[in-house]
Amino acid sequence: MKKILIISSLLLGLAQTVTVNAAGDAAAGKAQAAVCGACHGADGNSAAPTFPKLAGLGEKYLLKQMTDIRDGARPVPTMAGQLDGKSDQALADLAAWFSSQPRSGGQTDPALLPLGEKVFRAGVAERNVPACMACHSPNGKGNAPAGFPPLAGQHADYIATQLKAYRQGYEDPAGRTNDGDAKIMRTVAFGLSDKEIEAVASYASGLK
Ligand code: HEC
Ligand code: HEC
Repeated sequence: MKKILIISSLLLGLAQTVTVNAAGDAAAGKAQAAVCGACHGADGNSAAPTFPKLAGLGEKYLLKQMTDIRDGARPVPTMAGQLDGKSDQALADLAAWFSSQPRSGGQTDPALLPLGEKVFRAGVAERNVPACMACHSPNGKGNAPAGFPPLAGQHADYIATQLKAYRQGYEDPAGRTNDGDAKIMRTVAFGLSDKEIEAVASYASGLK
């Protein structure tokens, strides 16, 4: 009985911590976001195609990526020092701010549309690549509560870089490996050719 009490109070403590961390304050996030704007754009819509847009990325996904970048599970050398020493609450505030910003649109290269559309909507059956839209949704908006990021409007260069990094991470820890023990994105990307990556990145970027 005593044991059960201890376990349930531990669980209760955990639940409380999670609730506190999850509640981000967008105004407090905005106050810390100016330094991020140099690369990611003042409103989270970056101009340079190698810097991801943060505007409109789901809160859950944003918080996870910032935590992973801060703690080293997703090394981003360009961001060295940016998140060092930030509390979980500060990251939750930043996530609340950037997720609330409207995202600007992207464009699909017409020459890449047919192949990109095929990969996004149907996957690549002969290499067991699932359709991207199954998780990232048919309009590329993602699934915020599930932590599936939106791809619509994101820079195609950035999307392609991430797919190659996940593909590398399937076997090599120098790639991107922070997609969980189920290796969801590493497995998806492992079956994609360079040509398919360029095409699906361009297609997803232009989705409305
Ligand atoms: C000097 C430029 C620079 C600054 C300043 C910077 N970042 Fe970044 N950030 C990057 C780059 C480059 C990437 C993508 C790295 C990669 O290709 O994996 C990135 C990636 C991210 C991602 C992952 C996005 C995704 O779609 O997965 C988040 C979240 C992020 N940054 C948040 C921030 C926040 C919050 C700040 C300010 C506290 C900040 N960054 C400051 C360059 C920067
Ligand atoms: C089974 C679900 C699932 C499928 C299918 C899937 N994804 Fe993902 N994708 C995810 C999840 C979950 C993440 C976030 C991983 C994390 O939390 O770090 C993600 C992340 C990404 C990212 C990183 C986004 C960023 O902002 O850094 C890209 C790019 C991406 N997926 C592209 C694709 C493409 C293209 C396809 C189809 C070829 C695809 N995904 C299929 C679940 C999926």
